[in-house]
Amino acid sequence: MTSHTVQKIVLIGAGRLATNFAFSLRKKNFRILQVYNRTREPGLRLANQVSSLFIHDIKDISPQADLYAIAVSDQVLMEVAQQIRLKNQLVIHFSGTADLALLDPCSSNTGILYAPQTFTYNRKGGFLGIPLCIEARNDRSRKTLADFASVLSDNIYHVGSAQRRALHLSAIFAGNFTNFMYAIAEEILKEADLPMTLLEPIIKKISAGAAKKDIFLRQTGPAIREDHTTIRDHLRILSEKPEFRDIYQLLTESIIHYKHRKENDKL
Ligand SMILES: NC(=O)c1ccc[n+]([C@@H]2O[C@H](COP(=O)([O-])OP(=O)(O)OC[C@H]3O[C@@H](n4cnc5c(N)ncnc54)[C@H](OP(=O)(O)O)[C@@H]3O)[C@@H](O)[C@H]2O)c1
Repeated sequence: MTSHTVQKIVLIGAGRLATNFAFSLRKKNFRILQVYNRTREPGLRLANQVSSLFIHDIKDISPQADLYAIAVSDQVLMEVAQQIRLKNQLVIHFSGTADLALLDPCSSNTGILYAPQTFTYNRKGGFLGIPLCIEARNDRSRKTLADFASVLSDNIYHVGSAQRRALHLSAIFAGNFTNFMYAIAEEILKEADLPMTLLEPIIKKISAGAAKKDIFLRQTGPAIREDHTTIRDHLRILSEKPEFRDIYQLLTESIIHYKHRKENDKL
């Protein structure tokens, strides 16, 4: 099934998000007319993988597509958008933070498709089933984008700019920072000659709990117990790793302050 108004797509970028997006499009039988990328090799590879045509000059973008999807790094979105001039075809970006207005030079119909997910080159799943948050410049863009996005996922949200930014910020805490915590745990275990699999049950339990309400009520560990003996011991063990030690200290203090604030709120 494809969307009624969007069938042909031009993809700008061949990075992590573009790769997941492209494979999801192919699964749903959309036609990717062209893949543009600054660097030839990843662009050509992705174009071949999704039966598309690679273009290396952004000026060669076809005006025949229904949707132009700009999946480049946030820092260069403006620079890339300024090189794309269309009439009223829908142009979107995927950023959780970048302004929608960055796309104004491209077309009169613009939007954002923000997915609070972490995409790597391991594209298992891609966009399918992921919440897709839509922001659009006008009703026409919103309708076209919602119609298109609903083919990729049955989990569509309409958001404003402030909501999209808040969602992105929360995804940094819930996803990116958590992943870094796992990376720290992995390094500590490795140095003790222990496998990361030992933490699988706790990781599963915590992430299952995070899908429910009142997450802080399930906080355990020395910080919430204000067990300063254990905290001191951990800080001593981490004395050789000042960057991890600082994180431990900051999070511990933060948990204790947050606990006290919650207790005071109840009074
Ligand atoms: N990955 C995620 O988990 C995720 C999640 C949600 C939203 N997003 C959003 O998706 C968008 C793309 O992110 P990504 O993670 O896919 O990034 P990425 O994997 O780092 O890929 C970056 C893309 O931008 C291109 N690029 C970088 N500098 C450029 C320049 N100066 N001129 C032209 N193209 C340039 C790269 O081309 P080269 O191959 O030539 O370097 C590549 O195609 C961003 O808006 C990001 O916020 C990403």
